Amino acid sequence: MAKRIDVKDLNVYYGDFKAVEGVTMTIEPRSVTAFIGPSGCGKSTFLRTLNRMHEVIPGAHVEGSVMLDDQDLYASGVDPVGVRRTVGMVFQRPNPFPTMSIKDNVTAGLRLNGVKDKKQLAEATEESLKGAGLWDEVKDRLDKPGAGLSGGQQQRLCIARAIAVQPQVLLMDEPCSALDPISTLTIEDLITKLKDDFTIVIVTHNMQQASRVSDKTAFFNLAATGKPGKLIEMDDTQTIFNNPTEKATEDYISGRFG
Ligand SMILES: Nc1ncnc2c1ncn2[C@@H]1O[C@H](COP(=O)(O)OP(=O)(O)OP(=O)(O)O)[C@@H](O)[C@H]1O
Ligand SMILES: [Mg+2]
Repeated sequence: MAKRIDVKDLNVYYGDFKAVEGVTMTIEPRSVTAFIGPSGCGKSTFLRTLNRMHEVIPGAHVEGSVMLDDQDLYASGVDPVGVRRTVGMVFQRPNPFPTMSIKDNVTAGLRLNGVKDKKQLAEATEESLKGAGLWDEVKDRLDKPGAGLSGGQQQRLCIARAIAVQPQVLLMDEPCSALDPISTLTIEDLITKLKDDFTIVIVTHNMQQASRVSDKTAFFNLAATGKPGKLIEMDDTQTIFNNPTEKATEDYISGRFG
């Protein structure tokens, strides 16, 4: 079940440094939302607040609220580990557990959750690898190490690992930045398929990618180095790319800036 995310007046800090200020946005279920904006404007920082990964850094904290349907992720008593299970994440660099086999990589989260049944794990492996578009390439080498795959295959393995625990939201921080154009298109096709089941947020520096895969686009910017990043505008992707409201958005997407 994909879920809606409602962010209200979110400020994000590293100690005293306010990295992101005043973000209010709604992310629709079963859709792809792209975050774009210049380096350092806080896209990754904000993304990590959506599954409580931000606070693993000492001194890091937030003000404001993030709702997942009707659950406040930052309410007292909410278990951040449970939140991260519901809101999965894929990182910029593919990071499979290098010595673990392909199949153990896929089921790492499930086994951590206490699933031991071999048949259940085997089914989850196949289903997740099929979901990530990797099954045909690895079905005969499931016991080989994950590190033995190409970069694009490793990224799809990480996606399989993320979807194996059946999250409701999938956060992806520049998932294609280390990949060649063919692997990039494979991941983009995959994202389009995954949105039938998940709420997807993707950070990207690739404007074509944002316009190809996303339904909504959010443009972030910062006034100057050391100032907090802000959400400038968010709208249908077509509108952001063809007819944005803010001049800063137009300058950025047309390459005049950033
Ligand atoms: N662990 C950290 N401790 C302190 N400050 C940090 C930390 N991580 C990021 N920052 C700062 O927070 C601000 C936002 O960084 P962030 O990584 O979110 O930007 P970004 O938009 O994702 O950039 P890029 O496009 O380069 O990935 C920057 O000023 C950055 O230096
Ligand atoms: Mg980043």
